[in-house]
Amino acid sequence: MKRVFSGIQPTGDIHIGNYVGALRQWVSLLDEYDCIYSVVDYHAVTVEYETSEMGQRSLDTAIILLACGLNPEKCHVMVQSHVPEHTELAWVFNCVTPVGEVERMTQFKDKSKQHRSNINMGLMDYPVLQAADILVYRAGFVPVGEDQVQHVELSREIARKFNGRFGQIFPEPEAILSCAPKILGTEGRSKMSKTLGNYIGILEEESEMWDKLRTAVTDVNRVRRSDPGDPEVCNIFTMHRAFSPEEAHSELDKGCRTASIGCIDCKRILFKQMMAELTPIREKALLLKNDRAYVMDALKQGAKACRAMAAETMEEVRTALGLLKA
Ligand code: TRP
Repeated sequence: MKRVFSGIQPTGDIHIGNYVGALRQWVSLLDEYDCIYSVVDYHAVTVEYETSEMGQRSLDTAIILLACGLNPEKCHVMVQSHVPEHTELAWVFNCVTPVGEVERMTQFKDKSKQHRSNINMGLMDYPVLQAADILVYRAGFVPVGEDQVQHVELSREIARKFNGRFGQIFPEPEAILSCAPKILGTEGRSKMSKTLGNYIGILEEESEMWDKLRTAVTDVNRVRRSDPGDPEVCNIFTMHRAFSPEEAHSELDKGCRTASIGCIDCKRILFKQMMAELTPIREKALLLKNDRAYVMDALKQGAKACRAMAAETMEEVRTALGLLKA
């Protein structure tokens, strides 16, 4: 079976943007691909963080992955730092990656602006570690959002450079782009994100979620209830596209354009649909939170299987490099 790899940062607080943009697609690939999904904790070390919280963040993120349906019987769920071959391969990749290539990465440039006082080597090396994540399993397919396509392209180049210099070991991985609509934050301007604080977490209290949705920005030009709205510029309509059945879209579209439906009613309908899909996930997550042993065991199994695959790749890599065998 063709192999898929993808990773998610251990934010601990997965939101509906992550869910629609990534996790839902990850689940959809389970039957057709041999999938490895990782909580990429070493990537999170590139920025300042509270060390006493990191372990819990990884655990909470893993719980959400499992609760969403990434069943450990059907795929490998693992924590990046549990398989040290990722960072080992990253070193080798460092030696074939031109500095100019990583310097022009959009995410590096953005993060350098956000963290001016801590522009460390890891921040710059981030996409090289990402390439190692993928290629240590020789995965050919990488489900990601638009913002990560540049990094997947860099992994292709790294694979090419390595193969050219040391021999054909790695495939050139391809991004699998999700066709999911891009959900903006509750302020309706930037992409929903944990760091921007404009998110609706999938495990938040139901009343908290409704509060955030109730006060979320819609079409800014629709001021009074009687004003017609434009669904095309409304983040709530985008969320309907993600959560409501297709048949409902045209009616909501018409209702908005003719002002026969108000924003608050539109949000109520959305919330109902959203909760219908999220409630089973929330319940499962709650069960898992109370069963740490099960979750840790799933991660242990994941790491064990992944280490076996990664160790095999690294053996070949060390041979290709001509290193003295231990
Ligand atoms: N950089 C990715 C993101 O921010 C996370 C990630 C790390 C990843 N390693 C990966 C995604 C490997 C795909 C494959 O979303």
